[in-house]
Amino acid sequence: MSEACTYVVFGATGNLSLTKLMPSFYHLEQIGRLAEGVKILAIGRRQWDKDKWIEVVKEAIGPKARGGLDPEIFQRFCERLDYCVMDIENGEAYPAMYDKILSSGWSNNIAYYLSLGPGSFASVVRYLGEAGMLQERDGWKRVVLEKPFGFDSDSAKQLQAQLNKYLKEEQTYRIDHYLGKGMVQNIMVFRFANLLMEPLWNRNFIDHIQITHAEDKPIGTRAGYYDSSGAMRDMIQSHLLQLMALVAMEPPASMDAEDLRDEKVKLLKSIRPIAKKNVKAQSYRAQYTAGEINGQAVPAYLDEPGMAPDSVTETYAALKLYVDNWRWAGVPFYIQTGKNMPKNKTMVSICFKHSPKQFFRESQVKKMHPNWIIFGIQPDESIKVEMMAKQPGLEMNTQQISLDAAMRPAGIDSNDAYEELLLDVIKGDRSLFLRYDEVKAAWKVVDPVIETWGMETAYIDTYRSGTWGPEGANKLFDHPEEQGWRYHVHPEVD
Ligand code: BG6
Repeated sequence: MSEACTYVVFGATGNLSLTKLMPSFYHLEQIGRLAEGVKILAIGRRQWDKDKWIEVVKEAIGPKARGGLDPEIFQRFCERLDYCVMDIENGEAYPAMYDKILSSGWSNNIAYYLSLGPGSFASVVRYLGEAGMLQERDGWKRVVLEKPFGFDSDSAKQLQAQLNKYLKEEQTYRIDHYLGKGMVQNIMVFRFANLLMEPLWNRNFIDHIQITHAEDKPIGTRAGYYDSSGAMRDMIQSHLLQLMALVAMEPPASMDAEDLRDEKVKLLKSIRPIAKKNVKAQSYRAQYTAGEINGQAVPAYLDEPGMAPDSVTETYAALKLYVDNWRWAGVPFYIQTGKNMPKNKTMVSICFKHSPKQFFRESQVKKMHPNWIIFGIQPDESIKVEMMAKQPGLEMNTQQISLDAAMRPAGIDSNDAYEELLLDVIKGDRSLFLRYDEVKAAWKVVDPVIETWGMETAYIDTYRSGTWGPEGANKLFDHPEEQGWRYHVHPEVD
């Protein structure tokens, strides 16, 4: 059970709050994880009152509620809610909002959740600071910042300098919701709770590692944000580099927030910087054109509502990275992400080297697949180990078999990543939140690429919506004729 606290959600009427935060709060209510004194104050510009807000929340939660919206639980949940009309750019409005919290008898432990565009982070924190609303005299004050944290290294640094004036690092919760996903955490457990993996987890046995995030959705109504961001900033700089850090980091001294984050930073800092002259060889970008997904015709990126007709923003991005340390020297990490692909798939695929001597060369050497370990992150939550075995029969022929563990039985919904993270903020556990040096190190990895792409605005490759991205991205592989991206945990059924 959590302790009493007031969650103040800035940008409460926006997409993230309605599709993720409110449903997650409701689910925490459903499973009895919110203490009685947990209240949620929505901040919005629209002239709504509490009743209207409850109506909007009900509509948003309805289709997402696990097992359908339960009227009794929802009623209990509504008792936690309130709405405050406020212009967040007006510093004078802040003390009134604080008075509202205190005069309602709500907890003075306050988590300010900035579900806002990154352009507002600095000013909102400044207003909170100036109004004394970040002082921890009678209760803790924490600020949750959504991504992206900056636009590149320089802007992240500037933002951090502005936040530093009002906020201590211990009060700062930079969210990366991927760290709240059960299977992402499972990567650590799999690595560090199973001795048999450790001897193999290095350059002597691993040929390469792939991280893929594919979405079957377009950018939707997010043109304003997405067109100035692109896939590299939106997914790779944040979520996918975090995944890579967990796959590749050294075992931490303990699972405490600082030890864990120390190891992730060390790994991110060990990624070899991409020299400008190598940007072409180590990265790829493309944009979706019109096509068909799940039998539905979908428009091109350039025809999305609100889109600049000559945009060269990438909706697909791929990187080839090297980690210059003893464990990983020479092992390529391939990372890719794309919108409007045939299916939602997030997976980490570890490809092992071929055994040094191919004993069964005479018998169908073509079928001698290397071993793979595949982490299905979503929607399949599984760990699969692919191995070779003998085919039944008189001949010495080989076949591929797999040890396959589904982490979640069919029909059981997984928790949303935000549920755990919302609770962690109340508990004051920052292990699954990013420290500034992590964010900085991640920007350093992608900076040379986004800088080069930002200058080359004449052309971008395309891929048809409903396909697995541009063919040109295969050129990143060391041996493109034999290697390729994996999109399936279970190719036979996916
Ligand atoms: C968000 C990105 O951070 O993550 C979105 O801004 C992306 O563009 C989303 O769709 C993916 O998250 P998930 O949990 O759906 O894989």
